[in-house]
Amino acid sequence: MKNELSGTVRDRLDAVIHGGTEAGIPELVKAVLIESMQSGALAVPPKFRQPIEATYARRLLHRDPSGQYTMVVMTWGPGQKTALHDHAGIWCVECVVDGTMEVAQYALTSEIDGAFRFEQRNHVVAGRGSAGCLIPPFEGPSGPGLLLV
Ligand SMILES: [Fe+2]
Repeated sequence: MKNELSGTVRDRLDAVIHGGTEAGIPELVKAVLIESMQSGALAVPPKFRQPIEATYARRLLHRDPSGQYTMVVMTWGPGQKTALHDHAGIWCVECVVDGTMEVAQYALTSEIDGAFRFEQRNHVVAGRGSAGCLIPPFEGPSGPGLLLV
């Protein structure tokens, strides 16, 4: 599969993620994405921005050859949304390339006989150029990550 991410942004992400420092990688990645958005270095090809009918679109922009991170472009058309989900214990950095998105975080509060109950913890409206980190609640070294743009 051809990688669509190249140049300065990829070099900077690789330096942060492969730099040998385990602590704070999501925050460092977030800073790279925000700076790359502001400078115009993070160019998402138009074919990645096209919404599709029925559901939001997910398109792979880059997969690190060593498996330390992947970069996915997610495109929502008007009114489209993503179902409640988790990130399977991996860190994630989200960056809004265009438009505005709403993000609500929920916490699992109980599980009874296979029925799971969640409560909303926060709600954020994020605009173009903003970024946020989703970091699992565990201590220790970071595992592979996911970058969403
Ligand atoms: Fe998510």
